[in-house]
Amino acid sequence: MQPKVFSFSSADQVAQALDTFLEKASAEAIRRSGRFTVAFSGGSLPATVAKYLKDNKNVDFSKWFVFFSDERCVEHTDSESNYKLVKDELLSHVPIPSAQVVKISEALVNDSKKAAEDYELQMLKALGCDVVNQPPAFDCILLGIGPDGHTCSLFPGFSQVEVKDKWVTSIDDSPKPPPSRITLTLPVLNHAKNVAFVVTGGSKCDVVKRIVDDCDQSLPAARVAPLVGSLYWFLDDATSKSLIAN
Ligand code: 6PG
Repeated sequence: MQPKVFSFSSADQVAQALDTFLEKASAEAIRRSGRFTVAFSGGSLPATVAKYLKDNKNVDFSKWFVFFSDERCVEHTDSESNYKLVKDELLSHVPIPSAQVVKISEALVNDSKKAAEDYELQMLKALGCDVVNQPPAFDCILLGIGPDGHTCSLFPGFSQVEVKDKWVTSIDDSPKPPPSRITLTLPVLNHAKNVAFVVTGGSKCDVVKRIVDDCDQSLPAARVAPLVGSLYWFLDDATSKSLIAN
């Protein structure tokens, strides 16, 4: 399915568009299944996604189940924690029950392999997945990309990109610090009902063109192609200016 590319004149307008998108996507999911399952990446994404969403009174946050597309192997209070980032930007402003926020186990942050195995079990339990031979299907996965074309903690040329038999894997030599992380794998990303890349600021103009226009499969973010779900790009004009697909 072709990606839907949306470009806006500012990061603020991207934030407004994401607020509208997530209000609609969550309402549809809640109508269909009684809940909305969403995975957040780290970096600049949480602040952009939460800017307007955190004050949206039309969203039934009590039915949200929050996961992490990737997470650093650090304590929940560490400034590098994606959980802390999403908590500060969104979770502390909206009524999502803490039991519905699936976090890395702090007891396992010194063993990324065990942390990944534990997170996968937590994730499957929270999603109510009893079929373990196919990836869980999130309602929405929110992704950023790095200038090297990584997404989540799937980095170009790293073996984690090719993992097919696990839904969460680990890395201890991440080119982006900190080195130890856990990450969703491509089968999970490609099984989601909606995947939305959020890229602003203009510094990733070239890599976004390699992904969206050239479909450069050497880049992990270009390998995100939901099998039946929808793929969206929420970009500012500084990022989309050289795109043909725009
Ligand atoms: C992480 C992220 C990572 C991030 C990109 C983009 O935990 O580091 O999940 O994949 O989304 O590196 O980060 P920026 O949006 O901050 O450039």
